[in-house]
Amino acid sequence: MSNWVKVAPLEDIPQLGARVVRSKEIEIGVFRLQDDRIYAVNNKCPHKGGPLSEGIVYGDKIACPLHSWKISLVDGQVEEPDVGETACFKTKIEDGIVYLELKD
Ligand code: FES
Repeated sequence: MSNWVKVAPLEDIPQLGARVVRSKEIEIGVFRLQDDRIYAVNNKCPHKGGPLSEGIVYGDKIACPLHSWKISLVDGQVEEPDVGETACFKTKIEDGIVYLELKD
């Protein structure tokens, strides 16, 4: 089962900015790129749990605010030489509203 939850109007999320959605025990960072694509990943850095939504978006990656690991927002993979990954979530934009898919 999955369900789509409303995050915010696209225009309320600044380009290169993020929103945080809390679902049960996890926080999900929803990021808007410069070109208005939206991606969502587990907000917890796979290194030591830094809040990715407070990092710096560049291209389609996020640099963690704690130790600058670079993580792809497209597939959650950590950029070399570091190793790891964070979970990704599906997003969509309908009628100017951003939605996030949560699994039950
Ligand atoms: S916690 Fe993210 S790089 Fe260390």
